[in-house]
Amino acid sequence: MRIKDLLNTAPSEKIVVAEGWVRTRRDGKNVTFLELNDGSSLKGLQVVIDKEKLNDINLDGISTGSSVHAEGVIVESHGEQKVELSLTSIALIGECPDDYPLQKKRHTVEFLREKAHLRARTNLFGAVARVRNTMSYAIHSFFQENGFVYVNTPIITASDCEGAGEQFQVTTLDLENVPKGEDGKVDYTKDFFGKMANLTVSGQLEGETYALALKDIYTFGPTFRAENSNTTRHLAEFWMVEPEMAFTDLYGDMEVAEKFLKYVFSRVLEKNPEDMAFFDNFVLKGVIETLEHVINSPFEHMTYTDAISILEKVNDKFEYQVHWGSDIQSEHERYLTEVVAKRPVIVTDYPKEIKAFYMKMNDDGKTVRGMDVLAPRLGEIIGGSEREWRLDVLKERMQELGLKEEDYWWYLELRKFGSVPHSGFGLGFERAVQYVTGVQNIRDVIPYPRYVKSAEF
Ligand code: 4AD
Ligand code: MG
Repeated sequence: MRIKDLLNTAPSEKIVVAEGWVRTRRDGKNVTFLELNDGSSLKGLQVVIDKEKLNDINLDGISTGSSVHAEGVIVESHGEQKVELSLTSIALIGECPDDYPLQKKRHTVEFLREKAHLRARTNLFGAVARVRNTMSYAIHSFFQENGFVYVNTPIITASDCEGAGEQFQVTTLDLENVPKGEDGKVDYTKDFFGKMANLTVSGQLEGETYALALKDIYTFGPTFRAENSNTTRHLAEFWMVEPEMAFTDLYGDMEVAEKFLKYVFSRVLEKNPEDMAFFDNFVLKGVIETLEHVINSPFEHMTYTDAISILEKVNDKFEYQVHWGSDIQSEHERYLTEVVAKRPVIVTDYPKEIKAFYMKMNDDGKTVRGMDVLAPRLGEIIGGSEREWRLDVLKERMQELGLKEEDYWWYLELRKFGSVPHSGFGLGFERAVQYVTGVQNIRDVIPYPRYVKSAEF
């Protein structure tokens, strides 16, 4: 049985088995208390060892971090929890010497990042892992309940979806001895794929091909960005959820994004009350209330142009001044969500210059049908758009940006053969986990974070 289930077991005479890691051991004269945790819940099981009754009991080596097999009966507890285990026998499984890094005191997240192979045994990282699991499951449930088809798009790709040139290259060429052509350039025909290949930054382009066959699809997988940004919200490897819907415009896209976020947040409140109470107490006061507020209020909508005129009035507050045409930075996102709207904001219709090539051009010829969902505290959590589905307009746009048609021939053919309006978005999964848990740094909501100069474990 898991400890979570033992904690919900009614007292009885039946002998039960509890296995887990010792979090703490307290020795009294006649009684020893252990707190046993197996990660199935935040709370551990209190084990009471009556040394007088069990006079030949051997507790050698049972220390913080060691793993044990304990047997006993579930009895009513006078402590914080309803029940505890009154021990009948115990066996040490794996000892844990004194140099175990997770001793009882509280550790900083920076210290625990260096011990990422052990940190899931702490309250914080255990709770993050359980909430992350609930959110993954909720993401699948939401789309499955709404008739979306789960599609696995490739991880290795030859196209750059976002056009930002932030890709990790995949090659089997010998870097000490790179084959070169007569023009002095690398001869990629000698490489594994016969052309230059990279890790994907987004599954969107391939996702679109499936939406234009199956109507509503979604992907949920790892994506990679060689962005040199050392921030609390960027990773080099992160998970993205990307739905794509045929016969859907930007309004439909935004409606799905809002329902989707609310669904996932509600699931966590429903399934992980204990973990959420922990985050509320020890990580970010009020995080539960914030989520409830987000679930219960409609998202604010504004165009980029409106957002800029709001921000321009208070430009002196910002490190980066904005004007029409500039990117909205994290400090501006926070102002819009925290000060102006006090809830998530969906900003639409950005200047074409600051968005990707595939977004649908508006009639003004200047802005595109893109949308970003900005969340208080965090900023951009979702980026999406209606796609340019008109072949001639898309070709023109690609030409403007210097993208070669032959590199995107299959993407263009989607617009040639039975094109339809379609839209989608991408949710940064770790940012969503950060938002729900209140954890400050994105490096602490993924088991093994990858970022600039860091790929340990
Ligand atoms: O806004 P982005 O770049 O959009 C796309 O990739 C589109 N192809 C999505 C689509 O329309 N299907 O990325 C989407 C989201 C961002 O809003 C952000 O939450 C997250 O992915 N994200 C990152 N998360 C962690 N680390 C990074 N380096 C991230 N870059 C983007
Ligand atoms: Mg974006």
